[in-house]
Amino acid sequence: MAAPNPNPDFWNIAAGNLTRDQDLTFEELVALLDLAAEMKKNPAQFARALSGRYLALLFEKPSLRTRMTFELAIKQLGGDAIVSTGLIAEREPIKDVARNLERWTNGIVARTFMQRTVDELAKWANVPVINALSDLYHPCQALADVLTIKEHFGKWRGLKLAFVGDGNNMANSLMLTGMRLGMDFAIATPPGYEANPDMVRAARELSAAMGSKIDVTTDAAAAVSGAHAVYTDVWASMGQEHEAIERRARFHAYQVNETLMAKARPEAVFMHCLPAKRNQETTDVVMESHQSVVFDQAENRLHAQKALLLMLLA
Ligand code: CP
Ligand code: NVA
Repeated sequence: MAAPNPNPDFWNIAAGNLTRDQDLTFEELVALLDLAAEMKKNPAQFARALSGRYLALLFEKPSLRTRMTFELAIKQLGGDAIVSTGLIAEREPIKDVARNLERWTNGIVARTFMQRTVDELAKWANVPVINALSDLYHPCQALADVLTIKEHFGKWRGLKLAFVGDGNNMANSLMLTGMRLGMDFAIATPPGYEANPDMVRAARELSAAMGSKIDVTTDAAAAVSGAHAVYTDVWASMGQEHEAIERRARFHAYQVNETLMAKARPEAVFMHCLPAKRNQETTDVVMESHQSVVFDQAENRLHAQKALLLMLLA
């Protein structure tokens, strides 16, 4: 079946890659999220949209959700994926890896320790490159998260998204994507673990037209006050495991538990990209509460990435 949308421009991502959240223009971001909602509603309509297309999935770090949802996404669109694990530049330069993969596949999805590995792949590969998490960004997760927020609240503009914990890759992507859609963003971190100031500046600039506000604080209660969504992530990301004990001591006051959730709006949702360390950054009770939408977020990885693949590979 031919691609169902009559207007191919609608699907075009000008950057040709998703190496970071900013690669999508505002219009592309909104179009992608609309397409994801449509594909979630009518999956059968898109069953052959990427027939005969192949993806290379490269993982330098572990994954459950990202690997499963990219494999499923391309298969549900009629294509297929090949997975490779291990350090990308272990045996040969990244520029050579890129120029091998482009000869066999139609796109590269890469989870890397360093952002510059994704950037180098994108520089050399003549096929789209998608960041499946680096030290700086996790754009695919942010897409699923804002899709989940829209499903729940019916809008983005005027909502407050609070991130509590480490100023990490997830915080960066959430502020860059969420604020552009008109959400106010508050981030509370322990001193020394603040959000990257370059990311805060970029998020401010990108969202200026929407008038989104950002509050950078060390006060978790202040960040969560009035929030529609409270988000947290692990205190030690992949690659930081050696800092886990020290971080547990420093992040103690930033656990998203029932007391902290009670300071958000009564209708607030609890969000986490997963995997979660229960009874560290959040509690079992909050994870299992009626406010928790963590598995909706996980489900929406599939739908958001199907739309992304269609826009980049069709
Ligand atoms: N949220 C997320 O990216 O999960 P995985 O690390 O399991 O892929
Ligand atoms: N910040 C976490 C996200 C995992 C999906 C990490 O990088 O390990």
